[in-house]
Amino acid sequence: MILVIGATGKIGGEVARLLVSTGRPVRALVRDPSKAAAHALARQGVEPATGDLGDAASLDAAMQGVDRVFLVSAQDLRQAELQGNAVDAALRATVGHIVKVSGIAPSVSPGGPAEIGRQHWQTEHRIEESGVPFTFLRPGFFMQNLLETAAPMVSKLGLLAAPMGGAPIAMVDARDIAAVAAEVLTGDSHHDRVYDVTGPRAFGYEELAAVLAHATGQRVRYVSMPPGFAANVLRRQGKPDWYVEHLVEMAELFRAGAGATVSTTVRDLTGRPPRTIESFAAEHARPFTQEGVPQLLHTAARFGLTMVGRAASVLRAR
Ligand SMILES: NC(=O)c1ccc[n+]([C@@H]2O[C@H](COP(=O)([O-])OP(=O)(O)OC[C@H]3O[C@@H](n4cnc5c(N)ncnc54)[C@H](OP(=O)(O)O)[C@@H]3O)[C@@H](O)[C@H]2O)c1
Repeated sequence: MILVIGATGKIGGEVARLLVSTGRPVRALVRDPSKAAAHALARQGVEPATGDLGDAASLDAAMQGVDRVFLVSAQDLRQAELQGNAVDAALRATVGHIVKVSGIAPSVSPGGPAEIGRQHWQTEHRIEESGVPFTFLRPGFFMQNLLETAAPMVSKLGLLAAPMGGAPIAMVDARDIAAVAAEVLTGDSHHDRVYDVTGPRAFGYEELAAVLAHATGQRVRYVSMPPGFAANVLRRQGKPDWYVEHLVEMAELFRAGAGATVSTTVRDLTGRPPRTIESFAAEHARPFTQEGVPQLLHTAARFGLTMVGRAASVLRAR
């Protein structure tokens, strides 16, 4: 039995689906079994185990008869504490293999510049100390992030606003991370290994704007914002301080080139190349496409954002 933790999320959902397709018994830890994503798992044949990473008893129950655990959870200031509970439960249940989704490689360090990266390191360290065989997957920036962070403004204003400067980033499709995880969970040659998981090439946001323009058939312009400016925008949107700080820390890392390295893990482990940004954009063109926005409104909004872009350039020049 394989237990998938985080199965209602971007990577975990695809991991569960791929494992079920191999005919293996799969269980998923779900916090809220009434959620649509939990129903979808049950329909695919995944056995639900209601529980929470904050509740040790529910983890012990979920790990009964489990030999392998896939571990991913949301970016959260309690991530190390919550994932540590899963490691302790795996040890009690004498689980034979933990596969953990970690952070982007340069961020995973005890004294690293990003809080979430330091927390990933703490969990990796706890797993290594537990003696349970492990595999750590250290993915790059997910292409799926763009659906949340970029699509709303691209579709409304034709603007791709981000604090990434001109940094090349080897973005990866979360489904490819899941494909690597499924291979690791069903194979026997990945114990105590660490894999960086990226897309096939690194590209900057100028090029990303061109890819999105091609996919949507509309103009998309990149507005590069200094991280501090982006932080102010996010704070005004009501985002919590820790989240804003996390995004700024990650933006600084990417601007310093931390996301540029390309790995061959997807091809090496799955036998096929990772998905490209072009195929991702073509497949997800709709959320990036300007639909039903009256032209006048659109033009006015574009003018307003151009002013934002100019303000960012002035700040940057200071
Ligand atoms: N985004 C990136 O570019 C990037 C890059 C490298 C690494 N990462 C790492 O990837 C991870 C996020 O992966 P993802 O995007 O697949 O996650 P996600 O889509 O946000 O899903 C998070 C999953 O964790 C579950 N979860 C959260 N808190 C839980 C709890 N207390 N108990 C049980 N389950 C809980 C959620 O369940 P519910 O449905 O109940 O909420 C959901 O299934 C983070 O560790 C992040 O640092 C992200």
